Amino acid sequence: MYNMLYNLFGVHPHPKSFKSPVFPRLVTLRLAVLASGRGSNLQALLDAIDAGWVDARVDLVICDRPAAPCLALARERGVPAVLELRSTPGQKRTDYDAQLLEVLQSESPDLVVLTGFMRILGPTLCEAFPNRMVNIHPALLPAFKGAHGIRDTLQAGARIAGCTTHFVTADLDGGPIILQAALAVGADDTKERLAARVLELEHQILPCTIQRIAEGRVTLNCGKVRIASGPSWLESSHPAPVRGALYADGY
Ligand code: GRF
Repeated sequence: MYNMLYNLFGVHPHPKSFKSPVFPRLVTLRLAVLASGRGSNLQALLDAIDAGWVDARVDLVICDRPAAPCLALARERGVPAVLELRSTPGQKRTDYDAQLLEVLQSESPDLVVLTGFMRILGPTLCEAFPNRMVNIHPALLPAFKGAHGIRDTLQAGARIAGCTTHFVTADLDGGPIILQAALAVGADDTKERLAARVLELEHQILPCTIQRIAEGRVTLNCGKVRIASGPSWLESSHPAPVRGALYADGY
């Protein structure tokens, strides 16, 4: 019922208890994906869109590394705009960000999705897409922020590992958490093995996150995400959950 009201009117029936959803209507979200490497999360997202699990389309892929596999993947999969945007030697971060912002603004996506984009984005860029930029991080935030989530999880001797989707703010890996999935660290988990196990979860929570946003179920209240009730992760037709994993997808 709430979803129907969101979708029809874009207004929540209880405005005192809820803020407006990030996207107040059911729309096919137009995405820009930023990546730096392999592109397996991009692939998972494209697969979920093709399978009809996610109501979105990827209009633009930007990569900051030359010849990264994600570029070839995006081209093979027919993404309309694929751009290799390298920084030039000595280029200031703010100048790179300005270039990136110009490209993004010219495409004006509904949502910018960071999937292993290995650059720290400055405040101007982050603030240009308030609550419209999502990142996937290979650790259970707010622990193990930064570029080495898996390594740091193992080095800390954490018993539980996982991944997080969150909105991007100027606070690195510190924006409001959307979804998380977790698994137990095994005695035989090396960095590579754990990274592969966590990656499987990433491939599930990223498409799920985008779909929750497309459904208008994601709201922000006092800096915290709330996900309105609706079909849960386990009830929807996503790939089968990983055995033994814990998915926290909404309340
Ligand atoms: C993923 O582990 C993501 O969480 C991290 O970088 C990796 C990107 O992998 N930020 P891929 O390029 O999507 O395969």
